[in-house]
Amino acid sequence: MRKPIIAGNWKMYKTVKESADFVKQLHEKMKGISDREIVVCPTFLSVPAVVEALRFSNIQPGCQDAHWENEGAYTGNVSPAMLKEAGVKYVILGHSEKRQYDGETDPRINLKLKNVLKNGLKAIVCVGETLAERELGKTEKVIETQIQGCFEGIGLGDMADIVIAYEPVWAIGTGKNATPEQANEVHAFIRKLMEKKYNAETAQQLRIQYGGSVKPENVKQLMGQPDIDGALVGGASLKVDSFAAIVGF
Ligand code: PGA
Repeated sequence: MRKPIIAGNWKMYKTVKESADFVKQLHEKMKGISDREIVVCPTFLSVPAVVEALRFSNIQPGCQDAHWENEGAYTGNVSPAMLKEAGVKYVILGHSEKRQYDGETDPRINLKLKNVLKNGLKAIVCVGETLAERELGKTEKVIETQIQGCFEGIGLGDMADIVIAYEPVWAIGTGKNATPEQANEVHAFIRKLMEKKYNAETAQQLRIQYGGSVKPENVKQLMGQPDIDGALVGGASLKVDSFAAIVGF
């Protein structure tokens, strides 16, 4: 059985104080939940405050990126070693907004993924097609290329520390979510790819989140699909009540 994993991606929202207040409230609502993993990914700046507020919580702190080196002359970046020391557990890699605005590429995501794993952190690796790619019938090709690039040289033994998030770019922040069936089709395709690359057991154990306009109103149908094991939530993770409702799907 794959344990569901619901993660909030706060993007560039919430000050340090807002982040700490949020997780304190969320913690009260999430007490006692152990049949699913709950992750919140604030900005780097808010990580220490969130880690501190979640010290005795079942909610795990994450972040939204990490560098491929542990230190160096890389202005503006934060390394997995630093994040590990700060108490981070999960790192989102390859989000479509990083790909779109910060020039993130599959080879770079691959380097980052290797360093995240080397530092004992877990990764949420994002893949997904644009609307134009979907309309041209290229969804599977795009996903396959992204997976091949991101997972180059990643060994079987590391797969337990990796979650994949399928996030169709056209569904992110647009209010247009993929239908549960559309999403499941791609999730099943990703699982097949992983079976080919690794083996059936690894593919069966891999958790694949759906992301893109997940809300309290649609999470239940999405989670009802056989290959959807969780959600990566942007907009609806910014309010305690809506995120709590999604976790409680
Ligand atoms: P959204 O974002 O839920 O606001 O569509 C999802 C994401 O970007 O991870």
